[in-house]
Amino acid sequence: MDEKEVIDAVEENTEEVIVNEDAVVENVNGEIDTDTLIEVKDVKKTFGKNEVLKGITFSVRKGEVISIIGSSGSGKSTLLRCINKLESADGGEILYKGLDILNNKTDINKLRQSIGMVFQSFNLFNNKNVIDNCTLAPRKLKKMKKPIAEKIALENLTKVGMQDFKDKRVQTLSGGQKQRVAIARTLCMSPDVILFDEPTSALDPEMVGEVLDVMKNLASSGMTMIVVTHEMGFARDVSDRVIFMDKGVIAEEGSPADIFNNPKEERTREFLKRVLNN
Ligand SMILES: Nc1ncnc2c1ncn2[C@@H]1O[C@H](COP(=O)(O)OP(=O)(O)OP(=O)(O)O)[C@@H](O)[C@H]1O
Ligand SMILES: [Mg+2]
Repeated sequence: MDEKEVIDAVEENTEEVIVNEDAVVENVNGEIDTDTLIEVKDVKKTFGKNEVLKGITFSVRKGEVISIIGSSGSGKSTLLRCINKLESADGGEILYKGLDILNNKTDINKLRQSIGMVFQSFNLFNNKNVIDNCTLAPRKLKKMKKPIAEKIALENLTKVGMQDFKDKRVQTLSGGQKQRVAIARTLCMSPDVILFDEPTSALDPEMVGEVLDVMKNLASSGMTMIVVTHEMGFARDVSDRVIFMDKGVIAEEGSPADIFNNPKEERTREFLKRVLNN
């Protein structure tokens, strides 16, 4: 299901949040840890006979920037898609603020408003203008009035340097501009965390920098981010933590210094040698 389909699905089901108490998981002291936003516990996902995620465990604290790196096919996108339930994990547990997202009683549409996602291919409406792309979801999903939605959209377009393009049709923009609009669009929902799936991979090289700059600014503003990326410079310089995935498992996890200067695993060393020499 892509993001447009998500919006359509929500339109059909505009019921108020069903955050059932049964879905809230407490820690051993009977408290909900408010600093941990996302906990992924032993998550598994199989497509046919292909076990793509073989038990993934990690957690994300408020304000953290986590980069996920790894070879093509290692399961990075599948992991992100399981976190906002674009795919349904078939084993393990994913908690968002203590709420079990795999529990059917959790309102997944409401959850997706808090967990924003930025895709490699933008997923914007090409025949609509920039500001309409940004106001659509807040108006439909949050029932925001048009002038308020536009004010918020303009603020977020300003953050990504796209305010002067607000009336332009998306199809007239460059790739870098489209991705900046896609980031502004996500910000308009005031998410708690944003998942980025290779946001610069579809861009011409000269446009990568402008998008990474926007992401760096977001990171320093305190936004919680999980970023699947092939940009090793970003992973090294901007993230708090780097996760290296290999064949459906987390092969190694640590600070950027741990991973880039002192990798413990042979497969991490091999991967880095390959990508850094290209
Ligand atoms: N919807 C699907 N149906 C069947 N197989 C899938 C599906 N989505 C992913 N896969 C398979 O799962 C494996 C992991 O794919 P995934 O897209 O998560 O990898 P990735 O690490 O994001 O790779 P890349 O760096 O190329 O984006 C691949 O073998 C892929 O073919
Ligand atoms: Mg991918």
